[in-house]
Amino acid sequence: MPTTTAAARATALSKIYGSGDTQVTALDAVDVDIEAGRFTAIMGPSGSGKSTLMHCLAGLDSISAGQVWIGETEVSGLSDKALTQLRRDSVGFVFQAFNLIPTLTALENITLPLDIAGRKPDQQWLDTVIDTVGLRDRLTHRPSELSGGQQQRVACARALASRPTIVFADEPTGNLDSRSGAEVLGFLRRSVDEFGQTIVMVTHDPGAASYADRVLFLADGRIVDEMADPSADRVLERMKAFEQARG
Ligand SMILES: Nc1ncnc2c1ncn2[C@@H]1O[C@H](COP(=O)(O)OP(=O)(O)OP(=O)(O)O)[C@@H](O)[C@H]1O
Ligand SMILES: [Mg+2]
Repeated sequence: MPTTTAAARATALSKIYGSGDTQVTALDAVDVDIEAGRFTAIMGPSGSGKSTLMHCLAGLDSISAGQVWIGETEVSGLSDKALTQLRRDSVGFVFQAFNLIPTLTALENITLPLDIAGRKPDQQWLDTVIDTVGLRDRLTHRPSELSGGQQQRVACARALASRPTIVFADEPTGNLDSRSGAEVLGFLRRSVDEFGQTIVMVTHDPGAASYADRVLFLADGRIVDEMADPSADRVLERMKAFEQARG
């Protein structure tokens, strides 16, 4: 059922790396709501703060100022132990470089976070995820025996296996050819449409962004624009306009 509740939220979120002369303001008082059950894309030039924003929203990185919530929980107020638990139970992360364990099979990689947490997988959900990513006949293969697209689908399945409140994906198709990329994007889209999953994805590719419901545009650590129901052409036009404005 669609809902308008935020799956994650930040107010006046700032992130400053370093100090003195080498200080970098990666995020500059960002206010953002990530709607539950929707697919949000984050775009912007290299260094604009996209990865930093996702890491801060996911509780993977400390923040310098402001507040971050995952669901109803304010992340900044948590003890290390509570934060670890929140990340484990509520957050899935897909990295550009797959980050699979080479010695484990596809299935073992998918269930690894659950195994570490000492949780039994919900078998029915696991089956749904495996069938949706189309990996049923590859479950005993190790990462080196899988194509790039298949490896990234394993990483997506791993992120979804615990039914997290929110899945963050940082350029999940950055290392894939267009066909494998389309497979991964199709899967992410289906997980939103069919299971009400909440997804936030960083991408440089207007075609990838067009799979999302909403695109946020970042520049110099601020959200400078957003677009609903994006098409690749409209995203490309908007990016060109930004580039012209920046000179
Ligand atoms: N650990 C760090 N220490 C110091 N500065 C950092 C650190 N991580 C990121 N930065 C700086 O913060 C800014 C934002 O970086 P971030 O990685 O969020 O950019 P991005 O938008 O994801 O870029 P890309 O598209 O290249 O991945 C950059 O100027 C970067 O150099
Ligand atoms: Mg990045």
